[in-house]
Amino acid sequence: MERLQAALQKARAQREATPFYSGRNRNARGAPLPSSRRRASLVDDVWQGLPEMEVCMDVWQLHRLFAYKGGADAAPFDLLRTKLLRMVREQGWKRIAILSANADAGKSTTVANLALSFARQQDIRGVCIDFDLRRPSMARLLGQHLQTNMGQVIREEVPLDAHMRRLGMNMAFAMNDLPVSQPAELLQSKRTEELISDIERRYSSDVVLFDMPPMMVADDAHGFLRWVDAALIVVEAEKTPLKQIDILERQVADLTNVAGIVLNKCNYSDEYTGSYHDYY
Ligand SMILES: Nc1ncnc2c1ncn2[C@@H]1O[C@H](COP(=O)(O)OP(=O)(O)O)[C@@H](O)[C@H]1O
Ligand SMILES: [Mg+2]
Repeated sequence: MERLQAALQKARAQREATPFYSGRNRNARGAPLPSSRRRASLVDDVWQGLPEMEVCMDVWQLHRLFAYKGGADAAPFDLLRTKLLRMVREQGWKRIAILSANADAGKSTTVANLALSFARQQDIRGVCIDFDLRRPSMARLLGQHLQTNMGQVIREEVPLDAHMRRLGMNMAFAMNDLPVSQPAELLQSKRTEELISDIERRYSSDVVLFDMPPMMVADDAHGFLRWVDAALIVVEAEKTPLKQIDILERQVADLTNVAGIVLNKCNYSDEYTGSYHDYY
């Protein structure tokens, strides 16, 4: 009898320890919550458990990441965020890659600003992933020091939750501070697509932003684009030749939807769009 009681107690303890059965998933009368509420509570727990990102306002300012604070400097990114959100809602797009023809167009700066802008929109859950595995820069831009890298996460050597950093409770970053070997093979692997699906499920994200390597330099992005819903192309004003923009747009359109083109680093600004202009 004692052994039976002990076994029952053990089973009860195990049940309580399972998130779906914990007290938090029951209402005040002890009845189980509807499954959607249980799932929401579980997702909140996952977000709560992520390590928090260090808020480094001085580093962000230095790296032109103005979108954290809001206000006039953030306005162009907030506008871009709103346009992307409309597409997310209307077209059902969730995975957006940010691309350019060559390095230094301002992809990472744009992605980081967009992510910071999304972080201020608390009804949206977003994830930002640095997939420029050859020249990762998101961690440096955001002033974060990491012990693990995306290669280890993709190879399942490090759990996702240990590597991600959250800003608030609605924006998570998967960053890198070291180049990863075999980037093209990794990005095109089925495992990478499974990882993105895991991320979407686990963090219940509405949108995932990918910082990508330049298209004209290596084939990393080409193979990866089949996993995304759309791409935003960043071009450098007065530097990216029109012919190149045209070729790039056609290349990208063959692989995924083109969400738009961001004209970055303009030397002029106006009261509506600041120095970041975009057209669709
Ligand atoms: N709108 C802008 N105006 C001026 N400099 C910019 C702008 N956007 C980015 N930069 C600068 O250009 C350089 C390259 O930006 P980065 O975002 O790293 O480009 P990419 O990711 O395309 O290689 C950085 O020094 C960054 O601070
Ligand atoms: Mg970059």
